Amino acid sequence: MKIGLAADHGGYTLKKTLHSFLVASGYEVVDYGAYELNDQDDYPDFVIPLAKAIVKKEVDRGIAVCGSGVGASVAANKVSGVRAALINDHFSAHQGVEDDNLNMLCLGGRVTAYAAAEELVEAFLHASFTGLERHMRRLQKVQLLEK
Ligand code: RB5
Repeated sequence: MKIGLAADHGGYTLKKTLHSFLVASGYEVVDYGAYELNDQDDYPDFVIPLAKAIVKKEVDRGIAVCGSGVGASVAANKVSGVRAALINDHFSAHQGVEDDNLNMLCLGGRVTAYAAAEELVEAFLHASFTGLERHMRRLQKVQLLEK
């Protein structure tokens, strides 16, 4: 599975940690920046390219980190075809994929410590969309807004 990463300065350190973790776990990783720590940078400049890469299927799933994870999720969900959520608990990390076909995990680099973040990432990446009729029906109602 190919995983895209993106972070602003608020998520830069956690992104670096997750990059190493993902490579060590056998994933192919594409890094959409930031490539250096710059406390003036803006999360849309990294999150939107990652979101577009998910839609173009250049990566299978994305992980975006900003300070809180809020800005990353707000920005990513503006890109049609992206289903991003700020996740802080294990249940939502896998249930968001199983029921809602989540394709981008957003984390708060100032909120979630690396060990917890790695567990959330594992839960997100190991989960699959169930495709059950009721979930398809709900997603289709969401997708109507993307037209
Ligand atoms: C940047 O200081 C911070 O606002 C950003 O990383 C993020 O937390 C926004 O949601």
